Amino acid sequence: MMTDYPVTLGIKPEVKAFFDEATNTISYVVKDPASRACAVIDSVMDIDMAAGRITYDHADAMIAYIEQNGLRLEWIIETHVHADHLSAAPYIQDKLGGKIGIGDKILVVQDTFGKIFNEGTEFQRDGSQFDALFKDGDTYQIGSMPCFAMYTPGHTPACMVHVIGDAAFVGDTLFMPDGGSARADFPGGDAGALYDSIQKVLSLPDEMRLFMCHDYGPNGRDIQWETTVAEEKAHNIHVGGGKTREDFIKFRTERDATLAVPRLIIPSLQVNMRAGDLPKDRDGNLAIRVPINKL
Ligand SMILES: [Fe+2]
Repeated sequence: MMTDYPVTLGIKPEVKAFFDEATNTISYVVKDPASRACAVIDSVMDIDMAAGRITYDHADAMIAYIEQNGLRLEWIIETHVHADHLSAAPYIQDKLGGKIGIGDKILVVQDTFGKIFNEGTEFQRDGSQFDALFKDGDTYQIGSMPCFAMYTPGHTPACMVHVIGDAAFVGDTLFMPDGGSARADFPGGDAGALYDSIQKVLSLPDEMRLFMCHDYGPNGRDIQWETTVAEEKAHNIHVGGGKTREDFIKFRTERDATLAVPRLIIPSLQVNMRAGDLPKDRDGNLAIRVPINKL
């Protein structure tokens, strides 16, 4: 059953994109045109995994942009627990404030990966690391802009698309039309659920702007991150042109079987399921654990 989502196409947020070359992630600052209020969506913390070194160049660029424009950060949103990059949410919150929010199905993700990473009882599986847990259709505001979150499971169980005025931040539900869709083979992923979630996104108004979390510049084209519902419906190579649910599940499952594990999955999951905080070893030092043959 489709929830009746409160779409407000008349409100057009200002969207500033920050592309991270190391992980092909696009982070956003979304600003209310009627006030100084803004939100950050899907920030990135830099990691040199070989050296075990964390830096913040990408997040610092976003922070500088927010400060230089005199903006007030109200929300730091994660569309999902990313497996390919680390969130900088706590770092940004520390500098600028704002509430860190994610979908309430994070509890499922924390349970799954709490087991895989053999987390102790000090790792809470109740989402309490986050300031806000969104349910399907939950509304919130950035300044005076009305926003809502909608469940879009499939890539992961906790994926949500955030719709802010006429702009939807689709996370890894969709890629640009020539990029198709994200994989659905991580623990808790489901190709059929992903197809249904994509249909939900495509049922938004045709003129809705869609902002991607990733782009890999297929076939040598330049990196892009913005499209529309109409463009995706007409041209998406995985779901456009009336492809059936059955076709999609078969294609997605076969394709996913050929894909390598994301380079940063081990640190990403441990950090992102903690809302961007690094885990600690038993002496309290920041440390990432590498479970063997578990993923
Ligand atoms: Fe993802």
